[in-house]
Parts: sequence; structure tokens; C-alpha cells
Amino acid sequence: MIKLAVFGCAGIATHQLNAIWPDNLFELVAGADIRPEQLDIFKDKFDMQHGYEDYRTLLAEADIDVVMVCTPTFLHADNVIEAARAGKQIFCQKPMAMNTDDCDRMIQTCEDKGVGLQLGFVRRFDNDWGTVKRVIDSGRLGSPVLWQQISGGSPPGSPFFMDKDKGGGPMIDGMVHNYDFACHCFGEPVEVKSMPMKIHHTSTAWDTGTVLVSFEGGDQIMVCWTWGLPSGIRGRAGTEILGPNGVLSFPGSYDPADVEGKYDPETQGAYLLTLADDKTEVITFEKQNMFREELAHFADWVTNGTMPSVTGDHGRRATRIAELALNGGGLF
Ligand SMILES: NC(=O)c1ccc[n+]([C@@H]2O[C@H](COP(=O)([O-])OP(=O)(O)OC[C@H]3O[C@@H](n4cnc5c(N)ncnc54)[C@H](O)[C@@H]3O)[C@@H](O)[C@H]2O)c1
Repeated sequence: MIKLAVFGCAGIATHQLNAIWPDNLFELVAGADIRPEQLDIFKDKFDMQHGYEDYRTLLAEADIDVVMVCTPTFLHADNVIEAARAGKQIFCQKPMAMNTDDCDRMIQTCEDKGVGLQLGFVRRFDNDWGTVKRVIDSGRLGSPVLWQQISGGSPPGSPFFMDKDKGGGPMIDGMVHNYDFACHCFGEPVEVKSMPMKIHHTSTAWDTGTVLVSFEGGDQIMVCWTWGLPSGIRGRAGTEILGPNGVLSFPGSYDPADVEGKYDPETQGAYLLTLADDKTEVITFEKQNMFREELAHFADWVTNGTMPSVTGDHGRRATRIAELALNGGGLF
């Protein structure tokens, strides 16, 4: 088993470990968290052997092969750089960092020390969003396409998410998944336009924004997202890919009656492709756990001495889009 240390023993770290735990790929040797109670929870839940309040002490003392960085975003740069200096292979949650200067330092240190760095763009391992890429690549929607997404809710629990220097709000923390996956589908970004705003007025980060990114082939993504709603309230979400030949509607964005009986909801998800003359087709995918697949990939490249498929360069590119978006846009 691979000897693992986790930095930041709470929300996403719990989710990731729950997903992979039955597979026996990792042994959780150590964890670092400034909150001792979180270390106790991880000791109970995942048989974690050692807890440290300072991740540098962990790196100096614990017998580990790899590090999973799950701390608040503003800490990712220091965490990754110190782990790389200690010669550990690294998985780092998204967003890679709060700015591209930090990304550059992270990439350079990993290169200098000869360690791999996998970025936590979990959608790359998702059959659901993978269906979107499959349809786009098939050319059935035609070209260019516009991916439009509207999401609304309240902020995640921890205060750092809405601090402009620590988490940055939805235009970086939430949308970074879209930025990366759009690059995965459409290639290199060319220009970013954005309209940040605050509808709740309590955070230092923008709580709301509309971001438009254009790509080298003419495709675009438009994401409109708020974390400014009161706790527990969600707006009506909608996601579609529009092209000259028709529209691909995401699960939740079409009338369920249109797909009823055409897939097995226990084991499958379904997209609806609507083409000219109202021709519709249900496109199915097998449900899986993308967080499990993501960490299985981590275990695989560490064990086989290869390199990750989702890299620091991908993390930097998505962070660059976020950086432009948070500042009103600009040429990539
Ligand atoms: N891939 C995804 O879908 C996904 C989902 C959620 C969060 N995330 C990302 O994961 C990161 C963490 O988010 P979360 O929801 O788990 O937050 P969280 O607040 O639940 O957990 C962060 C933990 O880090 C600890 N911490 C703070 N400072 C520390 C330090 N100096 N050293 C060690 N530990 C420290 C906190 O005490 C806390 O327990 C963020 O970058 C977030 O964007 C990714």
C-alpha cells in the first residue's frame, strides 16, 4: 500500500478517502490540520497513525510516499512546494492556487525535485461530464458550440471560501472545474470576459459572477454562478451545450418525461440530444464514483513511476482564467 499523508483533514479529504477506502490502495500514515479535533476524527475514521498540527513537522518526521493537499486554497502553494522539497509525490486539490505566480513556483519546484503533481480536476474522471466531451468530439452538435451553465446557491461551510485572498468565491473555487473541462474539450483559451458582483454584501470575495471564455476554435463557455443566496436556498440550475445542429441538455435540464423508460436510473445517467426536426436521442452513461477514479489514477502513476494525466500546467491554465475573470477579463 502507498503511504499517504493528508494536509487538511476535513471536508473534501473525508470525501476523497471515503471514495477510495475499500480499495486498500493507500495506508493513511499521517495527517496535518491546525484543528486537533479533526486529527482525532481521522484517526478514528481512517486508522490514521499520526496527527500533526504543523505540516512541516509531518514532512520532517513521518514515513510517507505521497501527500494529498486538501487545505484552503491559499495554502496550496506552500503545501505543495514544501512537499516537493521533501521529495513526495503530490495530489493537490483544485483550485491549484490563488494566482498564477504561485502556480509557477509550484510547477518549478516539482520539476526541480523530480516529483509528480496531479491536480484535483475530478471531472476529468467523470463519466457524466465525459459524455459531454464524447458528444462534442463526435461533431454531432456542429461547430462552434456554446456551453452555458447557470447555478445558484449559498456558500460552502468554511469561511475561507468567501474570503478574496483565501478562497476567492465561486468565480475561482466553483467555476475552475468548468474552466478546466472547457479547455479539455475546446483547447486553448483566447479571451475572458466577466461581470463580477456581490448580491449578499457580506464577503470580501465576489459572491456572484458571469464569465465568458472563448477558445481557439471559436467555441465558448458562459457560466453564471452565485453563492450569494441565503443558507439552504438553491436557484434553478441549467446546463446545455448549444451548436448549429442542436442542443445537448445536461441531467436536470430537460423534462424527465423525455427520457423516461429509455435508461436505467439505478445504474445510468442520461443526457438529451435534440437535433433539427425535433429529433431527440437519449445518451446514457454508466454511473461511477469520479473521486474514486481520480485517486485510483494517483495510485497508478505513483506505483508505475509514470506521470499524472491532469498536471500543474492544467491547474495553471484554469487559475489564469480565474485570475482574469476576477479582474473583469482580458486576453489570455
Ligand atoms: N474537487 C472538489 O470537487 C472539491 C470539493 C470541495 C473542496 N475542494 C477544495 O479543497 C480545498 C479544501 O476544501 P474543504 O471543503 O475540504 O475545506 P474544509 O474547511 O472542510 O477543510 C480544510 C481543512 O484544512 C485545515 N487547515 C487550515 N489551515 C491549515 C494549515 N495551515 N495546515 C493544515 N491544515 C489546515 C482546516 O482546519 C480544515 O480542517 C479547497 O481548496 C477547496 O476548493 C475541492
